Amino acid sequence: MSAHASKTAVITGASSPFGEAYARRLAERGYDLVLVGRNEGKIKNVAASIAEHSDVDVRTLVADLGDAAQLAKVEERLRTDESLDLLVNAAGAATFAPTPGFDVNAINEQVALNVTATTRLAVAALSGMTRRGQGTIVNISSAMAFWIQPVSSVYSATKSYVLTFSQALQQELSGTGVRVQVVVPGAMSTGFWDGSGVELSNFPAANVMTPEDAVDAALAGLDAGEDVTIPSLVDVAAWNAYEEARDAVAPIMSRDVPAERYRD
Ligand SMILES: NC(=O)c1ccc[n+]([C@@H]2O[C@H](COP(=O)([O-])OP(=O)(O)OC[C@H]3O[C@@H](n4cnc5c(N)ncnc54)[C@H](OP(=O)(O)O)[C@@H]3O)[C@@H](O)[C@H]2O)c1
Repeated sequence: MSAHASKTAVITGASSPFGEAYARRLAERGYDLVLVGRNEGKIKNVAASIAEHSDVDVRTLVADLGDAAQLAKVEERLRTDESLDLLVNAAGAATFAPTPGFDVNAINEQVALNVTATTRLAVAALSGMTRRGQGTIVNISSAMAFWIQPVSSVYSATKSYVLTFSQALQQELSGTGVRVQVVVPGAMSTGFWDGSGVELSNFPAANVMTPEDAVDAALAGLDAGEDVTIPSLVDVAAWNAYEEARDAVAPIMSRDVPAERYRD
């Protein structure tokens, strides 16, 4: 065991450069790590490389988060690890295609990973975090929750879910000592786009961030106390205006009678 054994961070999707960047930064911050990945060889390589350059404890948990029994194994770990202080829900999947005729397996994979696994792992982590009165959950949404395209129905909807789920948790957990941050990256240069139906090369270079820069921005946002961190967003006033518009509309959407324009 390392000398820093007090705080553990669990990171899903840690075999990707994005999850790996989280792992490296959190190791630098003294977190012991549990890296969750589906591909055993890849996740063990990342773990070995981080362990070689740091003195924190680095473990791996091999699990296909789309498989009920393997997801339950990760949930159990989150529920029972008393040192758990941070969960980064970074694993995600995307297929971009026209919705009619969308491949059923691709639908299931995105919903299972982006929605079900993200939710269930957060809930599992919260059981101990709320009892201990401390801890942080980081959920990864996407700019595609806002940049809705004809080929992105399922992916954009799952990432809207991540945003809404996270914002609901933020309300619920206010004052408990447990934080939830939702990160909204734009396009990043990872293997995410390979075989997704959209080529990364379609994006102008000025719209693509390195995963390392995105993680550094996300952690800076976390340190600054942000609930929602959008690494690319220059003018935070644009986000505040979006939230204000929602807050203005939400309370006027439920009434005892239809609006005048829908009545004879
Ligand atoms: N890259 C972008 O442009 C971009 C932009 C906005 C938001 N995001 C979001 O950012 C997060 C990270 O994306 P990324 O760029 O790192 O994607 P990526 O390069 O495609 O990596 C996906 C990660 O998720 C893991 N994963 C996939 N299916 C899994 C499963 N069934 N069970 C367990 N792990 C699984 C992969 O592990 P294995 O290698 O072991 O399969 C890998 O570590 C995702 O939530 C994504 O939606 C990405």
